[in-house]
Amino acid sequence: MQGEVTVQGAKNSALPMMAATILCKGQCVLHNVPRLTDVWAASRILNRLGCNCHMEGNTVTIDGGAAQSWEIPDSDMRQMRSSIMFLGPILGRTGACTLSLPGGCELGPRPIDLHLEAMRRMGAAVAEEGERIRCCAKELHGAKIHLPFPSVGVSENVIMAATLAKGETVLTNAAREPEIIDLAAFLNQCGAKIRGAGESTVVIQGVEKLYPTSYTVMPDRIAAVTWLCAAAASKGSICVRGARPSDMEACLSVLEQAGCRLGICPDRIFLEASRPLRAVPEIRTMPHPGFPTDGQAILMALLATAAGTSVFEETIFESRYMHAGELLRMGANIRIFGRTAIVRGVPRLHGAAVAAQDLRGGAALAAAAAGAEGETVLRGLSHIDRGYEDLAGVFNNLGCQVRRISF
Ligand code: UD1
Repeated sequence: MQGEVTVQGAKNSALPMMAATILCKGQCVLHNVPRLTDVWAASRILNRLGCNCHMEGNTVTIDGGAAQSWEIPDSDMRQMRSSIMFLGPILGRTGACTLSLPGGCELGPRPIDLHLEAMRRMGAAVAEEGERIRCCAKELHGAKIHLPFPSVGVSENVIMAATLAKGETVLTNAAREPEIIDLAAFLNQCGAKIRGAGESTVVIQGVEKLYPTSYTVMPDRIAAVTWLCAAAASKGSICVRGARPSDMEACLSVLEQAGCRLGICPDRIFLEASRPLRAVPEIRTMPHPGFPTDGQAILMALLATAAGTSVFEETIFESRYMHAGELLRMGANIRIFGRTAIVRGVPRLHGAAVAAQDLRGGAALAAAAAGAEGETVLRGLSHIDRGYEDLAGVFNNLGCQVRRISF
């Protein structure tokens, strides 16, 4: 693979930000929103609530002030994990929210107990009635909330709910992902008072009202890593424009350890991978700024052909190695022991018929296929469409031959 690509806007920033517009009185405009099925799912929920959500190109307009409903149907909740991100904003704005367990990638159990507990701490009554969960609060109030684990989604829900709550909320052991900084910057631009986003302690002073604004979503660090790994797997060279390397240090460090040559500028990353790849002895997924779980499958696809043994440890999700079985079909040598994956590098992978079983696993298979000898037939594209604007188009522009035969 060879050439340049401009990275899309971040899915994991755009989705909570779309939900957060419910907190604003009036029409918000979000730029650089990626065109993905998860974004369609969020639009559908907003429209069902009455928020008049429109997308043109990569710009979304949402009239959060027009929200008239506080119920999310089960069918919409099942579309994606991020549907839980509507809980904080709907509750914060209307004082009531009814929803059910969210769907999304099968990565093992993904409970929402911490989301519900945080809302309870802010004064909401939560009743679980079969599949449906009813939350209501006359008025949310500030609270001291300590997370047992720095969950990204729970941190975001607390921040969103607290913006309109009465008094101060102090969130400790908060997640420090860059998408949280982006969400807080958007909300502060709307008039919220949030300090410390991106650090372990976030303090939110509730305000009376939030005003609409225009905001540009940050670049997608995992999409950037995907393009870098695909180029490296094919021994190619690439320039990923619009990426923010400061958000991606853990992944860039693994690429360097693997022997890729990197050129890093504040808004772009060059990668050249002409030398043979070396194994990376220990990669442990951790909350940011550690190595991201969303990069695990993609780096595994790359290290499948690195000389030596790489060892992955997945600490965030229980079952996130489904791509490993598919990589075996392509000639990889990977053994899984619980949360550990041992990858013995083979000289090369070969094309095979494989299936994406989750979003990042699917991207990993595409990256592996870019470097494999011969043709790969990849099924399960709906998983990839949840997070990548046009993976096939990007690969074709970089010199791969990809033909999409189903939509
Ligand atoms: C977000 C990202 C996802 C990424 C993940 C971890 C978005 C839209 N998605 O997902 O791409 O893989 O962070 O970086 O931003 N947990 C509980 N109870 C809860 C909530 C979470 O036990 O109520 C557990 C989860 O099961 C998981 C861990 O906490 O084991 C981390 O999950 P979390 O950080 O909440 O991930 P998401 O916000 O769902």
